[in-house]
Amino acid sequence: MKALILCAGKGTRLRPLTFTIAKHLIPIANKPVIFYSLEKIKNAGIENVGIVVNPENINDFKNVIGDGSNFGLKIEYIIQEEPKGLAHAVWIARDFLQEDDFLMYLGDNLILDDINQFVEEFKNSKELHASILLSPVKDPSRFGIAVVKNGEIIQVIEKPKEPPSNLAIIGLYLFRKTIFEGIKNIKPSWRGELEITDAIGYLIDKKFKVKGHIIYGWWKDTGKPEDLIEANRKILDDNSFKNEIKGVIDPSSDIQGRIYIGENSEIINSTIRGPVVIADNCVIKDSYIGPYSSLGNNVLVENCEIQNSIVMDNVKLLNLPYPIDSSLIGKHVQIVESQKKPKALRLVIGDMGKVEIVR
Ligand code: DAU
Repeated sequence: MKALILCAGKGTRLRPLTFTIAKHLIPIANKPVIFYSLEKIKNAGIENVGIVVNPENINDFKNVIGDGSNFGLKIEYIIQEEPKGLAHAVWIARDFLQEDDFLMYLGDNLILDDINQFVEEFKNSKELHASILLSPVKDPSRFGIAVVKNGEIIQVIEKPKEPPSNLAIIGLYLFRKTIFEGIKNIKPSWRGELEITDAIGYLIDKKFKVKGHIIYGWWKDTGKPEDLIEANRKILDDNSFKNEIKGVIDPSSDIQGRIYIGENSEIINSTIRGPVVIADNCVIKDSYIGPYSSLGNNVLVENCEIQNSIVMDNVKLLNLPYPIDSSLIGKHVQIVESQKKPKALRLVIGDMGKVEIVR
């Protein structure tokens, strides 16, 4: 069995971050989103992985993931020139997939549950042509939706206005080569995309057996900033995140809860209340770093308070009058107090940036 991870979308809802980084490479608890899928794939015993990327982000993926050997995987990159839909992404990967069964994984999705049982069940049941991971949701019209009868999917609809069920397709699918027959027989949808949901619908119409595998654990489609912040919270809450201090903490600092502090990082006269991850070469001075914060490499925080936030590499936060909360701060950002007159906000913000100010 092979795996195909889809990462070629444009990530418009995460701009401006996605002007310079693919959304799948944004760190959650200091690990790019896609690393979590690669680990699940490896754990499920799959080694050959294709990653569908776009021409603009392929080099970023290659730099971060390489050929996959660090994960014990063999990774190939497949370029999708334009995001013409999930089924189109599978179609252009056909030389990589050949006639093998495969796990299709939407690269912006994070799940906590193990996928081994989902994969094993499919491997062992030759009569199944597809198996789709589903989960009950409160807002079904935002997703592809499945209607399940006796474990079998009898209908699928993409983002229905009047959802016939609350079971969302959450972004992990198992297919056999029959899915290509489905893809060949569908037309672009109202949003101009070749929908994998329609190709699954074709299988169902042709009486090929499609199973709905329902999970009840936490999962997230990390499309918006608040999703990433929630995902960061969930991952830091997970018990597999362990206390580890590689850096230096001075005696006047107070450390509480589960904390990771990376190499050459210094905590000076500060309170850190976990769960918190602070990567390498950071300096935290006279500050408070509160629960659910993840700080990247080379971050300097002086005389500030921050909690429930993701701060990427090379950020400077100095002497801020208000605590930072529920924020997503991109690479090389500086938020600093200024002594200059007039006393005013001086902003240099890229296109589509967002600043919320309190009085
Ligand atoms: O999040 C689950 C939902 O994902 C499902 O419920 C829907 O049935 C499914 O269609 C999909 O809907 P989205 O509208 O959320 O898909 P999105 O455009 O966000 O793309 C999902 C991933 O696939 C993302 O990592 C980008 C990648 N992608 C997307 C398109 C359209 C590609 O690699 N190529 C593409 O052409």
